[in-house]
Amino acid sequence: MMNSLLCFLCLCIFRTVSPESCSLEISPSRAVVKFGDPVSVSCVASRPVRVLGWESILAASHTQNQLSVQWKVDSLTDWIEEPICYGVFFTAPRQCEEKLNLVLYKKPDSVSIILVNHSSPVVEGREYQLQCDVHNVAPVQFLQLRWYRGQTEVYTHSFSELLPATPVQVSSMLTIVPNRVENGAEYRCEAELHLGPEGPESPPTVQSELLSIAVQYPPDFHSPEEETLEIREGSEVLLNCTAEGNPPPVYFWTSPDLQEKPNDQPVLADASLGPGVYTCTASNILGKKSKQFVIRHKSKGERD
Ligand SMILES: *[C@@H]1O[C@H](CO)[C@@H](O)[C@H](O)[C@H]1NC(C)=O
Ligand SMILES: *[C@@H]1O[C@H](CO)[C@@H](O)[C@H](O)[C@H]1NC(C)=O
Repeated sequence: MMNSLLCFLCLCIFRTVSPESCSLEISPSRAVVKFGDPVSVSCVASRPVRVLGWESILAASHTQNQLSVQWKVDSLTDWIEEPICYGVFFTAPRQCEEKLNLVLYKKPDSVSIILVNHSSPVVEGREYQLQCDVHNVAPVQFLQLRWYRGQTEVYTHSFSELLPATPVQVSSMLTIVPNRVENGAEYRCEAELHLGPEGPESPPTVQSELLSIAVQYPPDFHSPEEETLEIREGSEVLLNCTAEGNPPPVYFWTSPDLQEKPNDQPVLADASLGPGVYTCTASNILGKKSKQFVIRHKSKGERD
């Protein structure tokens, strides 16, 4: 007895909040419209109705004794439009209404990317900020901003805050600590509107231009350890001091055994280099590194 009473109660509650009780059906129940495009939505009553109509700033309309009424706009440009379909019935519930879930959207006018308070080139290992600005987009709650370095997506920024439905400008920041491998990397950001199943098949997207970032770093040798060369007297020696650096390093050689004037080439190749210690230094604006080469002569009896 108690059980069936409870069940009766819950059925009642269910009925009053359930949309069926309103006897009105909006189709499509969610409309996604591009700014300036036409839209048409119908509202259908499932029981005899005295008045059926749309409450709307733009295209209010109503019918009498008819089971269907259209809301139709040739070019939707009103950001605050919130159409409501209402019915006045002969039997209880006498009145009810359904709100149309309407999404008016607009692609951004432009998307731009900058390096904040700096310009390329930057220095390896330091922190920098990239900023992406999305101009004049709506509604921002459906916006996803994707950051790319080359083809790699590095960060996605979602804007779930319930900001106004009208077009706004939003920004996203990305902190980078570039390394030498990323020298010349191209960054970009992409604004996408994910409008749901009722929206366009592929999300409306606007890309920024590419921002290329040059990275400067101090010189470094592939093999920094000292090199010892044993050669026959009179044969050609090749000392290779080539280092990686940006800007490209400049070189100088020092040795008590270097007879000629100091050399500024990365590679020293000469048949006249005698035994001794040769030190090469590679340097650029960010630092310098040295490397030693030791030349020894083989005695006549020694084999190769
Ligand atoms: C950029 O520079 C401006 C003015 O010099 C300053 O107000 C702002 O805080 C700086 N922004 C960053 C991220 O360093
Ligand atoms: C010197 O070494 C660099 C890299 O270590 C190499 O690219 C270059 O070809 C070498 N030069 C000579 C003349 O062997």
